[in-house]
Formats: sequence, structure tokens, C-alpha cells
Amino acid sequence: MPQHVTALRGRAFTFHNDPFLNDPEACVTWLDDALVVIEEGRITAFGPHSEIAPSLPAGAVMVNYGQGIIAPGLIDTHVHFPQLQMIGAYGAQLLEWLETYTFVAEQQFADKAHAEKVAALFLRELLRAGTTTAMVYCTVHPQSVEAFFAESARFNTRMIAGKVLMDRNAPPALLDTAQHGYDESKALIARWHGVGRQHYCVTPRFAPTSTEAQLDAAGALLAEHDALFLQTHICENPSEVEWVRELFPERSSYLDVYAHAGLVRERAMFGHAIHFHEHDFCTCHQTGAAIAHCPTSNLFLGSGLFRLYDALDPKRPVRVGLGTDVGAGTSLSQLQTLNEAYKVAALSGRKLDALRAFYLATLGSARALCLDDRIGRLAAGLDADVIVLDPSATPLLDFRSGYCNSFEELLFVLMTLGDDRAIRATWIAGEPVYDRDRIAEPFRYPDAA
Ligand code: GUN
Ligand code: ZN
Repeated sequence: MPQHVTALRGRAFTFHNDPFLNDPEACVTWLDDALVVIEEGRITAFGPHSEIAPSLPAGAVMVNYGQGIIAPGLIDTHVHFPQLQMIGAYGAQLLEWLETYTFVAEQQFADKAHAEKVAALFLRELLRAGTTTAMVYCTVHPQSVEAFFAESARFNTRMIAGKVLMDRNAPPALLDTAQHGYDESKALIARWHGVGRQHYCVTPRFAPTSTEAQLDAAGALLAEHDALFLQTHICENPSEVEWVRELFPERSSYLDVYAHAGLVRERAMFGHAIHFHEHDFCTCHQTGAAIAHCPTSNLFLGSGLFRLYDALDPKRPVRVGLGTDVGAGTSLSQLQTLNEAYKVAALSGRKLDALRAFYLATLGSARALCLDDRIGRLAAGLDADVIVLDPSATPLLDFRSGYCNSFEELLFVLMTLGDDRAIRATWIAGEPVYDRDRIAEPFRYPDAA
């Protein structure tokens, strides 16, 4: 039987190298008329239309996006799906914000129907924003993880998620124990890790809400299974850092608390790292641990300014991904997140150009997650998780785009003025699961596509 072949035509860009370590222009491919050829969920060819088109099979389905810009799907390395209902909560810094808003909202996820409703909305909002892979915090309730992965499996999205572990310093309804959290995580790993495109992530919320016994249990889980991920928060807010110093007086640093439990390693994603010292960056560099840069959250909670260029210092570069951190972050759009990343860099006296910015949101985040053999680029062999950007999405974007003299300038305008409206379509594993202009039915599970 002939294979089903789809070819997307439009302008396109992708990265193949790190523009923070190399000449940015040499790290990107931009094509004015490109084809992305897809078969069985994978990209089989990417290149200029004139080169690729002659070898397309007769029955190939061509989708022409005209002036649309085809790009690898955006990757969000830090986001909380249960916090969608309290995004934009007024007036508090981290610790007060957690108590006043977050822990209240998360208690509702004991109700499976609520978790399912929010997971369904959240996945759709990710796809609408052009995010094709995310590293996601659920709540302490296993049913929140079940609801999330079940919906992700329906869309066939590559997602990384896990049950939050908390055994102290949170409301009783949100606490587990070291043993219970371990057992529940283990059951979820057996049920979901490596099933289709789902990956499990061991998720101690942060050091203040886990005893040393629980952090050790998290380390044990990582040691017992292949290719598990880890996510947690670190050095986000000065009061939090001070609290950790009081809770773990015997440790040399906040990062050392996690290192002691075996959590600082490849596939570990540490959210924020704003108040890091040089030796912390060195430890991350040596171990392969990654940092999620979450600028909208850091500005919204008044947490501080992440020193991106320090983290990426070519002498000892740390893997850095881009995160929205909703609900402390104020947008699920990685375009808007880059908009704020630019401003955070500017306040530190640096400039985040469009090439480096889009690298961070695509291949850079894929590398931070150690998933760059599967996602993050337009290249033969990679998963066909692809988006189409529309530089004419709004009257202002359309007008401003007309004055762009280079594709770098066009990308910069997209990250400054763009948001979910600028995502024309999102393809997951070769299926058009979201189409902004399919008005009656913008979302479709792949079976029905
Ligand atoms: N630190 C511990 N929990 C959280 C959370 O839910 N959001 C943020 N931004 N920081 C945290
Ligand atoms: Zn967070």
C-alpha cells in the first residue's frame, strides 16, 4: 500500500546549531520557498521547493501556506497546567502567592472531572500558542496526571509531566509522604512513561515542601528507571532562598540540596535559577542539568532578572530552555515569553536577537530536555511537530511586517507583536491538529484529521 505523504509549502526556518556559541547566521536555515515532506509522523525531507518537489510521489497531498512561515513547534520547558484558573492573580510575591492562590486552586484537582476539564482546555491552549512539547507540573493528585496524559495521548503530543511531590509546608489536603509519593509516582511511571509520546517527570515541587526523605525518594525513582525526567524550582525569590538555607543548614547551597539527593543530572530541569552563583552554573554545566528561563513569571512575581548570558557563558555553557511558568507566568505564548526575555536581557545590558531567541524556543529547549534527536528542528528523521507562523495575523503585524528588510527583522517583529493569533496552524506528528482558520472546528484529534 502506498504511504500517505504530506508536503507543507511556505517560507521556513530552522536551526541546526547553537547561535550563542557560533555565528548566529551560520546556525540557521531560512528558505523563501520551502517544502517539509511528512510520512508516518516524521519529516522525511526539508529543503527548497525547487529541489524537493520533483521527487514527491504522485499522490502526495500538498498544503500551501503561501507567505506563512513554517517552523519547528515551540517548546515550553516549565509550565503548571492546574494553574490556568489563577493565571494573573494580583499582588503577591512567590511564597504569599503560593499560599493565597496556588495551593487553593490545586486542591480542586482532587476532583477528576475538574482535572479532565482543565487538561482539555490546557492542551488546546498550548496548541493554539504553537507549543508542541511542554514539561508540565500536575498536582499532588495522581488523577491530575492521568487526566493530563490521557488528553495528550489523544492529540499524540510529546509531553513530559508528573505528579507533584510535597510532604511538608503545604495545606494538609496537598500533602503526600515520602513513601506514598514514591509509590504513586512509580505507578504513574508504569502506566505512562514511554507510552506513545508521553514521558514521566519526577516532580518534587521545591525544597521547602519536601523533606530530605522525599528528595531521596525522588532520587531513587530516577535511579530505578531509564530516561525519566526531573523538574523542580530553584533560587527564584530571595525569601525562598533564605528559607531553604534555614531548612537545610548542612548543605552548601540550594543546588547542593538537590545534588545531595541525586537530582542534579541530565534531563533535570530547574526552574528560574535567578539567584545562582558562579559555582551553581559550573555544577549545571558539569552535570548536564538544565535551567528553565521564565521571564514573564519572573517579572510578574517580582522575582528578579535571570542572567541569561551568564548562564550561557561559552566558557561553561549551561543548557537553558524557555518556560512560560503559567500561572505565575502571564502567557502560554512562547512568542510573548520571548518578548519579555528580550526586555529582561535588555535590563541586564544585553540584547537578545531574534535568531538566538527562536533558537531558545525550539532547538535550545529540545537540547535542554535532551530530546533533540526527536524534536526542535525541521530535518529528515525528526518528529513532524511543525507550526505555521502568520506575519499578517493582525492589522498591526501585517503593516509592520511590510517594513521588514530581513527575515531576522521579521522574526523579531513576530516575537515582539505576536501571540497565539500569529499561529496559523499546529501539526503534531504529521497531523493538522490545530488550524486557526478552521473556524467551526479549530482542534481535531489525529484520528479524525
Ligand atoms: N515554587 C514552588 N512552587 C512554585 C510554583 O508553582 N510556581 C512558581 N513560579 N514557583 C514555585
Ligand atoms: Zn513553576
